[in-house]
Amino acid sequence: MNKFVGKHLVVAAMSVAAGFAATLATTAQAADIVGDAKAGQGKVAMCIGCHGIPDYRTAYPEVYRVPMLGGQNRTYLENALHAYKKGDRHFDTMHAIAVTLTDQDIADIAAYYSVQTASSKNNPDK
Ligand code: HEC
Repeated sequence: MNKFVGKHLVVAAMSVAAGFAATLATTAQAADIVGDAKAGQGKVAMCIGCHGIPDYRTAYPEVYRVPMLGGQNRTYLENALHAYKKGDRHFDTMHAIAVTLTDQDIADIAAYYSVQTASSKNNPDK
């Protein structure tokens, strides 16, 4: 005797478009990044507070002289920021700031500062 038990196997449509996990490869290759001084100008607002003041020294926890950035070598600036970001160069404040910068930000900022000259002394964005 065959008893057919109608069984509905409801497969919950769990088809979460798995393949659509967007491959947002936002990590651009370092070699493709070209610094834009104009774009950099809009990104230095948070640097000015320390780096824009002649002879400014941070008072806590120790007294540090804040280096001047304007006119420095572009590659040097980029390397310094990457080093702070990675922790290769140690300075808490600069590390905290550098980790918020993307590779593009660093390139833009370096481009911006490197084209400044001594005659842009009164540039408030320095
Ligand atoms: C709270 C103060 C402060 C702020 C804000 C700040 N810096 Fe600095 N920065 C310093 C100090 C102090 C040093 C020196 C640290 C050291 O001895 O390594 C420094 C060092 C640097 C250096 C290395 C310079 C050199 O001559 O080797 C670079 C490049 C730099 N900062 C870029 C930036 C940029 C770009 C920003 C904004 C995105 C920024 N800093 C914001 C305080 C600051």
